Parts: sequence; structure tokens; C-alpha cells
Amino acid sequence: MCGIVGYIGEDKALPRIINGLKLLEYRGYDSAGLSFVKDNKVFIEKEIGRIKNLEEKINLDENTNMGIGHTRWATHGEVSKVNSHPHRVGKWTIVHNGIVENYVSIKEKLIKEGYSFQTETDSEIVAGLLDYNYKKEKDILKTISKTIGELTGSYALGIICDDDLNSIYATRCGSPLIVAKDKNGYYLASDVPAILDWTNKYVLLDEDEIVKLTKDNYEVYNKDLVKQKKDIYTFEGSRNAAELNGYEHYMLKEIHESKKVVQDTFNYYVEKNSFKKTMPDFKKYKNIHIVGCGSAYYVGYIAKYLIEEYAHIPVYVEVASEYRYKDNFYDKETLVIIISQSGETADSLAALRKAKEDGIDTLAIVNVVGSSIAREALWTLYIKAGPEIAVATTKAFVAQATLLALLAIKLSNKTELLKEFDIDKELDIVLEKDYKRIAKTIYKHDNVFFIGRLVDYVLCLEGSLKLKETSYINSIAFQAGELKHGTISLIDEGTPVIGVCTKESIIGKTISNLKEVKARHAYVLLVTNEDIEDDFYNQKIVIPKVHDIVQPIVTVIPLQLLAYEVAKLRKCDIDKPRNLAKSVTVE
Ligand code: G6P
Repeated sequence: MCGIVGYIGEDKALPRIINGLKLLEYRGYDSAGLSFVKDNKVFIEKEIGRIKNLEEKINLDENTNMGIGHTRWATHGEVSKVNSHPHRVGKWTIVHNGIVENYVSIKEKLIKEGYSFQTETDSEIVAGLLDYNYKKEKDILKTISKTIGELTGSYALGIICDDDLNSIYATRCGSPLIVAKDKNGYYLASDVPAILDWTNKYVLLDEDEIVKLTKDNYEVYNKDLVKQKKDIYTFEGSRNAAELNGYEHYMLKEIHESKKVVQDTFNYYVEKNSFKKTMPDFKKYKNIHIVGCGSAYYVGYIAKYLIEEYAHIPVYVEVASEYRYKDNFYDKETLVIIISQSGETADSLAALRKAKEDGIDTLAIVNVVGSSIAREALWTLYIKAGPEIAVATTKAFVAQATLLALLAIKLSNKTELLKEFDIDKELDIVLEKDYKRIAKTIYKHDNVFFIGRLVDYVLCLEGSLKLKETSYINSIAFQAGELKHGTISLIDEGTPVIGVCTKESIIGKTISNLKEVKARHAYVLLVTNEDIEDDFYNQKIVIPKVHDIVQPIVTVIPLQLLAYEVAKLRKCDIDKPRNLAKSVTVE
């Protein structure tokens, strides 16, 4: 949510800032702005809409060697130029990612002190508070340290102070921030992709650390202003991973990377059909809680079915935004698994911290190396999905389903099941099917239903979410048996109902439910791995039948591609759907 970039060095700053912002656009894209220093003065430019609008407005060749930029996902205050970042109060110019929860009381205090504010944002008050504290502290680092001590909530801040126009300052708590260096200067960014055109080495800022960047140095301090020594990380993937490589959209490209992410994830944990040391032993746990948001929550539900069926360990799955606020019945025999592609989702991070505070062991399943969740969990298992750019997650879901299936096998000791991961051929089959033809039959509808039972129901949830996210069609996933307890009243002539039928033991029951909706003139689309010939469906997507442990990996792909094709027919902004952001670092 919101992306921050900063540059200070020998080169012209604006092309670097715009480049970084474009690579962070997935974090929010309703407006963008930047601030740069020229002739010892601070300039600010802002524009609503995409980064390209800002780019068109500014002079990229501007004679400036330092600046900070921001791409916004609005939280406080509508999308408008005035609410866009940077914000400037007195001598302080800032960009902010996160939410300052106590901004109202700070604002009231500052107004009493004679300050006035132009925006509806929580961010502008941070610039005000810096300015106010600076009048007493008269030292930039001390001022930043004092100011962040007074903030509650989450923040990553890029800061310029008029009294030191040769430095960029930054700090973070709850929202990510990295620092990087190439031969000509230093960078600040919310995420690694922003710097990959210049370097693959970076430093992760820890909570409440403050960094001072000058054109030939960087210094990191803790909140007591003691200098810190930092580890340098290397990004392992290639810059190419974040390119379209000839595909029309990142979503399509990323779905087509499924085969690779299954292989890469499998090979990272398994060799010659045995687990490597990279997969620890979790057998001491008698029950498991799985926590995540969005698709990460749904993939957790798939894991529940696999772990319960194969390892006979009870698994409770919860949405992170609920889990963090409720009584959770766990003890020393519980393992809390947090699933998060980005590793930065605020609710998932808070759920992790809560479990840790309660003395419960935690395992993170994460894609982004060095992310907050990855660093704070007791154990971290990485999926090997590589950078995922499209806001709607696809390949990361596939990689998570792969890793969680491996975990189920590890917990169950049934290593003979590892051979079932040889599914390249089957993935090729589902990837190459024509989904456009089917998409044409549903893209004009306002409501689409997905029904299935057990693991098929969870796949319905994910298919329905993909359709909502990318095509803005209202869609509900239902446990097939529940339909007749109310929801069937919504079924009308031609209503599309997508039935997912892959779990052999339960297919007959779902088919009965599909027949019930067909009798009410629904348009039935069957997704199945069985050879079903009947007259209860209008269309059928037949997918390969593989072992139950890997079937979800194969089944989800047609649902992802169907959502993609429907969104394309509806001319939606597939990679950047309205109102969404990929990394949700606010509550
Ligand atoms: C956002 C994304 C979803 C994602 C969810 C959790 O809402 O749009 O695609 O599933 O966040 O993200 P995480 O990074 O924690 O997996």
C-alpha cells in the first residue's frame, strides 16, 4: 500500500525516481508525486492517476540529484492532487506509507500551536509534527527519533529537511523500507523491484531505525541514535522476472509460470524423492492454526484438507484481520502458520506478533525474502515464485499450494506421495486450453455462482475471488450442499453457476446440486477431472486427474485463466484492478 522511492547521488534523480515508482505501482496507483531539490530549494510535483501522468508533467531532465517519490493507495482522504504525497509543513517534506492511527490528536495539538493543514490525510501531520519538534530539538536525527516515538500505527517515511538539502532521511515501523547503493548513488524503496535496474544488493531497515543518505554514504541509527551495522542482502532472481516478456498482462504471464514455480518450490525442499534439510520437522505439534488474508487464507484452507486427511492433525483456518482480535485457543502444542506472499500484510503480521507474544511457535510461508513476516516468525519456509507483479495473485497461490502439500506429506510421513508432483504434462494441458470461448458465455452477467464441496469449495472461493478482483463481476462461492438453504433463491434463467467437481468421494453430491440449479434454468459450467457425460451442464472444462495431494494446483489454473479472459472481455485493467493494492500494509 503506497510505494516510496528516493534517490541521492551523481546522476539526475527524476528518471530514477520515476523508474522506481513504476516498478512499485502495484502497491497503489491512484495518484503519485515527488519532491526534488534544485538550487537549494525543494520542489513538489503531484498528479492524480497513474505514474505516467506524473511523468508527462515533469521535466525528467531536471538538474537535480536528489528527491523522494510516492505512489498512493488512498486511506485517509479521497483521491485528489492535494491529498497526494509529498506533504510539506514548515521546513519538512515527507512521503508516507502506512497509517498514523493517532493523527487526530496530533493534528488537534498542532492546530492549537498555530499550525494549519491543507489535506485530509494522516500523513500531513507527520510533516507538521517534525516541524514542531524540530523547533525544540534543533537537530534533524533527534527530531525524527522524537517524532516517531509519538506516532502510533504504521509508517515508512522518506524525509527531506530544508536545513540539510544534501541528505535524505528515512525511517520505518510496520511498513517496509530498503536502502540500496549503486556506483553513482543511494536509493530508498518500499520493495526490492524498485532498485533492480541499478543494483541487486540492498539493506533492510528494521523497525524504528533511521537512515541518513548522502550522495556518497549512508548511516543507519536505532531510535536511540546509536549507529547500526547492517547486513547486505542480494536479490537472487533476475530483473527479467519482473518483465512482461511478450505477454499481454502480468497476470497471464504469471499463470504461465506455474510449472516453473511448482518445480522450483518442490526442488528447494525435495531431492530424489526425500525431504532436504530445508524442510524442518514439525511433528511435535498436535494442532495447527493457519492464518492469512485473501488468497493466502484460501490456500490455507486447502492445506487444512490436506493436512487433516493425510497427517490427521486438526487444522483451524482463520482470516488474519479476525484472528488478531479474538481469543485463540492455542498452547505449546500448537503451530501457528502465517501465509503471506508479500510477507508485509499488516493483519497477518499482527496475527503473527500476537501468537509470538502468547509464546506460541510460528511458521511463516512467504514469497518475499527478508520481509517482515519472514524475519519475525520462528521458522520461515519460502515459496519459490519469484516476483509477482499482477495485483491478483496467481503463481504465488500455486507455489503456496505446492509447499503446503509438501508440508502435509512431511507431517504425515507419506514420502511415497512425493512422486505425485510430476505434473508438468498436466499443467501444460490446463495452461493451453481455450478459456476465451467459455468466458464469452459469462462475461455479460452481473452475478456468477461457484459451487463445490470440501477442497473443491475452497477452489471455488479462490476462483470467485479472482473473478471479482479482475472483472468486477459480483460472484459468490457456496458449499454446494448449502445452496438450497437460501441462496438458491437467487438462481434465475441463465444465471451462470460454475461447479467444481474434482474430489472423487463427493462429486456425485455436487452433481446433484448442479442438477438442482439446472432445473431452475441456471447456465451450468462444469469444471471436472472425471469423464462425466450428462445433460445437466451447458459447458464443461475437463482437466487432468492427478493425485488429490496435487489436484488443487492443477484445478486452480482454469479458474485463474477464466477470470483473466472474462476481465479481458470486459476491458478491465487486469494487472491493476480498481481500488486494490498488492501489498496491504494497512489494517
Ligand atoms: C491483497 C491481494 C491479494 C492477497 C492478499 C494477501 O488483498 O490483492 O491477492 O491474497 O492481499 O496478501 P499476502 O501478501 O499477505 O499474501
